[in-house]
Amino acid sequence: MKDLEKIEKSNCCITAQQFDYDSLKKICELTDKIRVISETKEGRDWLQTLLSDKKAMLYFAQPSSRTFMSFVSACHILGIKIMEIRDPSISSMVKGESDIDSFKTFSQFADLIIMRHDKSNLIYEVADALSKDNKIINAGSGADQHPTQALLDVYTIYKMGFNNKKIAFVGDLARGRTVRSLALMLSKLPKEEALKFYFVAPSNYQIKDDILEQLKKENIDYELTDNWEELMSKIDIVYMTRLQNEHDKKNWLYYLKNKLGISPDNARSNYIINKNNINKLKPDCKIMHPLPRRLEIGIEVDKDNRAVYWEQVENGMWVRVALIALLFKKEKQINNQFLNYQKIKKI
Ligand code: CP
Repeated sequence: MKDLEKIEKSNCCITAQQFDYDSLKKICELTDKIRVISETKEGRDWLQTLLSDKKAMLYFAQPSSRTFMSFVSACHILGIKIMEIRDPSISSMVKGESDIDSFKTFSQFADLIIMRHDKSNLIYEVADALSKDNKIINAGSGADQHPTQALLDVYTIYKMGFNNKKIAFVGDLARGRTVRSLALMLSKLPKEEALKFYFVAPSNYQIKDDILEQLKKENIDYELTDNWEELMSKIDIVYMTRLQNEHDKKNWLYYLKNKLGISPDNARSNYIINKNNINKLKPDCKIMHPLPRRLEIGIEVDKDNRAVYWEQVENGMWVRVALIALLFKKEKQINNQFLNYQKIKKI
C-alpha cells in the first residue's frame, strides 16, 4: 500500500486518516461557499464550467442509493460527464479479467474513478496501480471505510458547532464503515472543540481495537457501553446505525433473512429510537443516521426537529462537490467566485 499524502496534496480520497483538522475545516468552508454560489442561476452555470472537460467513472460493485446519486449529482453540478458500472456481471470481469486490469481500462476513459467495493483492500491496490493523473475516490470499501460519508457527517456536525459535544455511536459498530471513518475524522478536532465518544453496542458488535488504538493516540475521551437507555439523556448527538448483515454472506441465515425482508435480529434489537423512548433524549439532542435505516429509528421520529438524517443526505451532495473540486485543485477559483458573489450582493 503506498503512503497516502494528506488530502490537499493527494490525487485521491481513500481513507479518513488522510484528513487533518485543517483539511476538514477547509472542506466544510468550501462546501458553504459552493452552496452560496449555487443560489443563483449565474452561480450554477459558473459551477458547471469548472470541470466540464472532465469525465468520471462510477464503479459501484455494492448496492447504493445515496452515495451513488449524490456523486452523480455532484458531477452534474461541476459539469463532469459520467459513465457507470453498477453490475460487474455485465463487465469483462466475468471473462476472468482481474480487478486491476479492469480499473486500468476504466482509467483510459475517465479522469476520476469513484468506486465502491466489498473488498476492503482493493481501493489501495487500485490507487497503487493507476497513474497519479487519475483521481480516485473511495465510496465505501468493505466493512472498513466510507470516508465521503464521514465527510458529510463531519460537515453536518460542523453546522451544529463541535463545542465538545457528547456523541453516541449506536448499533453494529464492528462492521459499520461509516462509524469507523467518522470516529477517525472526528478524532482530529483540537482539544477545545473535541467531542466525547460513546460506543453503544452489545459486545459482539462493539467497535474494534484498531479504531480504539487510533483514538488513544489522539487522546480522545471515549467509553464503551451496552446500556443505550441509560445513556440517552446524557448525549448531544446520537449516530444510529443498522445491522450490517450483508457481511454475513457466508452464513446461510443471511439468505434467509434477505428472503424475509427485515432482519429478525434487527427487529429484536434494543438499540433503537422510536415513540416509546425518544423523550429520554435531550430537547436539543440531534439524531443522525447514515441511512439506509431499518427499524432502529421509527418513521415517526422523522417529524421530530431533532432528526437531521435527511439533511445529511443533502449535505452529502454538496460536500462531494467540494471534495471533487479540491482534488482537481479548483479551490482558489471557487474562493474568488465567492468573493465576487459577495461584492455583487452588497451593491
Ligand atoms: N449512507 C450510504 O452509504 O448510503 P448508500 O448505501 O445508499 O449509498
